[in-house]
Amino acid sequence: MRRLDQILANLGYCSRREARAFLKAHTVATAEDERWFDPSEKVDPASVYVDGEPLDQPDGLLVMLHKPLGLVCSHDPREGSSVYDVLPPRWRDRNPIVTSIGRLDKETSGLLLLTDQSALVHRLTSPRHHVPKRYRAIVDRDLPPGLEAVFAAGTLQLEGEETPCLPARYEACGPREAVLTVTEGRYHQVRRMFAAAGRCTVLSLHREQFGDLTLGSLGPGQWKLLPLTTFSP
Ligand code: URA
Repeated sequence: MRRLDQILANLGYCSRREARAFLKAHTVATAEDERWFDPSEKVDPASVYVDGEPLDQPDGLLVMLHKPLGLVCSHDPREGSSVYDVLPPRWRDRNPIVTSIGRLDKETSGLLLLTDQSALVHRLTSPRHHVPKRYRAIVDRDLPPGLEAVFAAGTLQLEGEETPCLPARYEACGPREAVLTVTEGRYHQVRRMFAAAGRCTVLSLHREQFGDLTLGSLGPGQWKLLPLTTFSP
């Protein structure tokens, strides 16, 4: 049981200060229509309905987004349109905050996970957990032979980094197209790996897999909720 104003504020419906007015303006009630007006009321979140709808993901959320090109993974509005703009506006005000699990560059598309579960963020972004992330890249010149061995060796050194990249799996799909599966998430990692090992520039980059997850039929800009247990050990 938790205070109603705290529940509403943590899920982004209103601030704690606004809770009294929110309870006047909206029907916050049980399924049996027992309505609450007192923000200090202690209730079970599972029994709360707002204007007839159950609370929005009261136990936390995990989302798969097909990130389109052109959006940044940042909460800072000065950085331009962001992935948070395509999610429900109420989620911006949740506490704990909804964040992406790792980031994709503005000009990278594909599978992006977002959650309010900080333990999950830490687990899935830690290189120690070796979560494979599979990227499809198109580059500006023919890919040289021998890249598979270079990426697999675990010795590729990127400029400004102290340790070499962990081994990555490379598969050429065409003269200028390849998929690369990495288990880390360094800054611009895939673009820098192709630049360092293949002397080429990545023109298009798309993440098609994260762990066992793929986008399936999700189109660019579309998202879906995943069970919180998706990555349970
Ligand atoms: N590697 C990159 O270079 N960019 C991304 O967005 C993700 C991985």
